[in-house]
Amino acid sequence: MPTWYESQIIKDLMPILGARAVRGLETNFFLSRIYTGKSALLKVTRYLEAVLEKEERRALIITDSFTERFVKYIDDYLQLINMEYKIWSGVLPEVPISTIDEGAKVCEGFKPKIIIAIGGGSVMDTAKMILVRYERPDQNLFMILPSIGAALGLRKKIKYLIAIPTTTGTGSEVATAALITDNSRDPPKKIEVVHEELLADITILDSDFVKDLPPFLTKATGLDALAHAIGSFTTNWGNPYFDAMNKACIEEIVKYLPRSYKYGGKDLEARSHMQAASTLAAFGSYGNQAPGINHALGHSFGKIFNIHHGIAVSLFLPYGIAFKAKVTDKWMQLCPIFGIETENKKRESLLIELIQSIKNFIHSVDGPTCVKNIIGPKIEKKNYFKNIDNLANYAMNDAVTLTTYRPINEELYKKIFEYAWDGSFIDF
Ligand SMILES: [Fe+2]
Repeated sequence: MPTWYESQIIKDLMPILGARAVRGLETNFFLSRIYTGKSALLKVTRYLEAVLEKEERRALIITDSFTERFVKYIDDYLQLINMEYKIWSGVLPEVPISTIDEGAKVCEGFKPKIIIAIGGGSVMDTAKMILVRYERPDQNLFMILPSIGAALGLRKKIKYLIAIPTTTGTGSEVATAALITDNSRDPPKKIEVVHEELLADITILDSDFVKDLPPFLTKATGLDALAHAIGSFTTNWGNPYFDAMNKACIEEIVKYLPRSYKYGGKDLEARSHMQAASTLAAFGSYGNQAPGINHALGHSFGKIFNIHHGIAVSLFLPYGIAFKAKVTDKWMQLCPIFGIETENKKRESLLIELIQSIKNFIHSVDGPTCVKNIIGPKIEKKNYFKNIDNLANYAMNDAVTLTTYRPINEELYKKIFEYAWDGSFIDF
């Protein structure tokens, strides 16, 4: 079944929706209550102790088979306030809809008042969608319209959704969006669900939960955050709030991702800064506005070729910037962050320099910037080009496409995918 944003009417109306708007200032700004550092767990525990009645102290912990081990970090705190809890570790990567239904059934049996999501982006997104399924079983997940559509009226059964991320990059813990997979399509398609009521009420950022993040996930989720911040900075929904957050985020990532990737848990300072960068990127991008067409390209490519989200969206980052550069100069503000002198340089050479610097940065943490260089899984050229129509179609029908500066269609998407095979510079 198509989503609301695949409707031709919506696509046709999007360009005129902002006609009377002050650029970027017709958007809202949704934030969670965020607790950071070593005292975060105790502060949240004390808060819950004060606001929950004794019979309301029932928590469902949503996690997966890998992140379930982190439950031991919160067990003492839950016991401190006699919180009865149940662990459900049935989350799967890519969030198939069947797991959402399964989690909602667990809620119906256990009747929690609190949901605690411990894990990466898939865990966060599954928890958000379980909240919807449990409270609004009548709601068609493909037709949830953000903000101006309709209120969902959640939180009648669940009082608090608490997010404890174990990765540093997806930012889902502070975002109003969830990515799920529609397996009824062939090939399966990523679906974005966006609504402010999906936002976690409380987010806990404690470096204990991310200190053992393996190198691959450190780089992949860190590059996802970079793609959020840069992609968002160069969309036309940006405003001074988001611009400030995105710029700060990019500076943090340029400084701390290489350290966090190289030294892992031995460099807790870098880990903590990447936690902050991750939330900054989500506030500044898909938490409140849109992360740019590199996410539409990456969603489509990642799903069809089974490539990690962060690797896929950062691979397409340079192409997205170059494509939008035909109609905006905003990318120029990023030059100083990448150490590029702008004086007495022509626009075209500056753009080439910026794109190369961003590619160099991605390479510095062993990320690919063209499809033919991806290893694990290696993609055959013939297979890639055989799928190029599907790739373009899925990117065109991605929610992010509605928010791009520059008009785009399937033919242009196809051309970008073609250029991305060997890293050609976007010259159209
Ligand atoms: Fe992302």
